[in-house]
Amino acid sequence: MPHIRKNNVAGKSRILITCAKGIPPYLREEVLALGFPVLDETIAGIATEGTIDDTLRLNLLLRTAHRVLFLIREFAAPDADALYRAASEIPWEEYIAPDGYVCVTSSVDNPTIRDSRFANVRCKDAIVDRIKDKCGRRPDSGPDQDRAVVNLYWKNSRCSLYIDTSGEPLSRRGYRKIPLTAPMQETLAAAVILATGWAPGQNGSGHFINPMCGSGTLAIEAALIGLNRAPGLLRDNFGFMHIRGFNEAVWDELRAQAKKTAKKALDCRIIATDIRTEAVEAAKKNAATAGVGHLIEFAVCDYSETPVPDSGGIVILNPEYGERMGKIKELESVYKGIGDFFKQKCRGYNGYLFTGNLDLAKKVGLRAKRRIQFFNSRIECRLLEYELYVGSRKNKNAEIPYG
Ligand SMILES: C[S@@+](CC[C@H](N)C(=O)[O-])C[C@H]1O[C@@H](n2cnc3c(N)ncnc32)[C@H](O)[C@@H]1O
Repeated sequence: MPHIRKNNVAGKSRILITCAKGIPPYLREEVLALGFPVLDETIAGIATEGTIDDTLRLNLLLRTAHRVLFLIREFAAPDADALYRAASEIPWEEYIAPDGYVCVTSSVDNPTIRDSRFANVRCKDAIVDRIKDKCGRRPDSGPDQDRAVVNLYWKNSRCSLYIDTSGEPLSRRGYRKIPLTAPMQETLAAAVILATGWAPGQNGSGHFINPMCGSGTLAIEAALIGLNRAPGLLRDNFGFMHIRGFNEAVWDELRAQAKKTAKKALDCRIIATDIRTEAVEAAKKNAATAGVGHLIEFAVCDYSETPVPDSGGIVILNPEYGERMGKIKELESVYKGIGDFFKQKCRGYNGYLFTGNLDLAKKVGLRAKRRIQFFNSRIECRLLEYELYVGSRKNKNAEIPYG
């Protein structure tokens, strides 16, 4: 089936970029930096506008986004029959090949719908019935999100139908073959690093030190950011590739450009350590898969033994916080020890602690300069920033209780 560009696909539309709660401020900056307008900001997304070809660029370059949704049509539908009727009027045959495959995902809040799966089925029926009617054959459908994905957003009687141009969420970069326990989502790790302001080569951002690295997500994302390497280069499948009219030449050009603008080396050190050998082995493999294994210095050691070079930078730890691993009582001494480690070994650095337990964070015993809210799945978390002064200011943050 030839991929024919149709007007509907080529024209401009609203693009909704979703992300985890807490991340919109960083996603907003990314979207603006790529030259797209920000039309709206919600607690879990940014609205912009562009063509479907623009979604290729967004999928390739955004670090903190989950999904890039391209609006097809908005309409009123008080119930599922009305949804079916309105969705049947959309020329789906221009988007999805009759010999293709489609998955419908949704977010539904309508008084007539008790189970959102029913809405998905009605929407899917409208799509495949329409294509059968126009082309004589209906595409396959099912739950797999690795081909064409249509997203239904239905609130009261307002429906929006989007092409999910990402397919699988963008947090699945493809490098984390070994996740271990309680890994940080890749997009969250990227947002956390952007929140620190670490930008190697600028303002003397310095080294990136990551004790308690686990599967290595923070160190790997730091290497990708440091190299200005597009996270989407790591993936070979996106939803937009399964939409008719996919312009492969545009995609190839975008990838080539992204490769050209990426740096080959870093002007700082990235050091990642963990007390568990299997964590460091997994982190090494994940970093190698991401193509940045040679840029990260790994070691197996207690966090307090992590080498911290003299010239400054950031040191960032994501210890367990008792929700998913470990016990809170046992963790108290770990958090206290992190405070000692910051004071004794990390002078001249900005220290960061990412945790979902603020009571444990108090055990660090240092006053946080900034407390930035994030969400790790449903758990409300904080990224706490500690300025760890050198020389005459070194005592300024020495024994101040957490404020
Ligand atoms: C919450 S996990 C970090 C997850 C990581 N951010 C990721 O994305 O995979 C905490 C890590 O701290 C490590 N850890 C616990 N106690 C430690 C210690 N005393 N020294 C060094 N690492 C430690 C654990 O082995 C675990 O890998």
